[in-house]
Amino acid sequence: MKVLVTGGLGYIGSHTVIELIKNNHEVVIIDNLSNSELSVLSVLEKLTNKKLPFYKMDVKDEEIKKVFEEHKIEGIIHFAGYKAVGESVSEPLMYYQNNIGTTLNLVKLALKYKVPKFIFSSSATVYGDQQSPFDETMPRGNTTNPYGETKKINERILEDVAYANKGFNVVLLRYFNPIGAHKSGLIGEKPVGIPNNLMPYITQTAKGIREKLYVFGNDYNTIDGTGVRDYIHVVDLAKGHVKALEYNNKGVDIINLGTGRGTSVLELVTSFEEVNKIKIPYEITNRRPGDIDECYASIDKARKVLKFEAKLTIEDMVRDAWNFEKNLK
Ligand code: NAD
Ligand code: UFG
Repeated sequence: MKVLVTGGLGYIGSHTVIELIKNNHEVVIIDNLSNSELSVLSVLEKLTNKKLPFYKMDVKDEEIKKVFEEHKIEGIIHFAGYKAVGESVSEPLMYYQNNIGTTLNLVKLALKYKVPKFIFSSSATVYGDQQSPFDETMPRGNTTNPYGETKKINERILEDVAYANKGFNVVLLRYFNPIGAHKSGLIGEKPVGIPNNLMPYITQTAKGIREKLYVFGNDYNTIDGTGVRDYIHVVDLAKGHVKALEYNNKGVDIINLGTGRGTSVLELVTSFEEVNKIKIPYEITNRRPGDIDECYASIDKARKVLKFEAKLTIEDMVRDAWNFEKNLK
């Protein structure tokens, strides 16, 4: 299938491009480089041994019509968007404009050019503070920040459009916590500035860029008091997208991509230390506003309809995350 990947030079997009090519799909990439670097394109071309059509464009912009004119797009995977929760609180308009504007423009063109399949990057954040395991039949919960709200709004927009347009089939993939990197160590997560997320904060502490990790609270109702999340290796997550693309759905499907297993902050730190033989100094501090105690997936639907199950372990994740970070200049 010929697939348009928006945000294809970003963290999850770049890993997905590799898996798509491995499975004999053709890929066209749009990215405006707002949170990625052009050098990722040459790395992808090297790893896949393919020349990849790339358009440096803003997905909100009318000019992306050109991509649909030049290629017969048969599926779209829409990763492009902003993702920093804290920044979305200080710059809400920027988040609503970018995260919703990209989807509106893309869906308009998908309908015009009769693209039958649309896959959207949603997030477990749309479940709000309900009780884990989160399953897809639960209603969307309350979000605590504009980023989360953009995911909820996007889901609703895509549901409404699919309902009104037979032949426009949507898969809303709700990601849990993607971490890790490609085994080559050449692509991975490279946050700008101080990382918001746990794994890049750990790898930067291991490298000495950060003095210590701040663990946000040890009084949660969890195994050791620290927050529990469902970490999934980014390569497994990427494989889930290939399955979603090849899944012949009608209308809208919501599907979780997680492992179904929860890991606490301290368990992740311990695993990192044991696998990589590096000590991570840490200090327990206050809870971070908006955090919940536990967030993990029900994976029954992914298993049943996509025949997908994550294979890589926490040990693989911490090893590959460090392998990427230690080689970064
Ligand atoms: P990322 O920032 O690494 O990748 C997003 C890419 O989109 C970047 O390369 C950026 O340059 C590009 N982009 C942003 N706005 C654009 C625009 N208007 N036009 C063209 N390109 C644009 O993020 P990621 O971690 O790869 O996440 C991909 C998607 O998955 C995002 O929608 C994100 O919200 C969602 N998601 C991520 C996580 C996570 O933990 N990483 C969890 C749940 C959902
Ligand atoms: N944590 C720390 N110290 C840090 C960073 C995080 O203790 O420096 C803790 C958090 O309190 C939480 C856990 O580590 O318990 C994971 O935090 P992350 O920030 O890595 O991930 P979140 O689960 O908070 O959020 C992630 C994405 C969101 C997405 C959400 C649900 O960042 O975009 O998963 O999918 F919405």
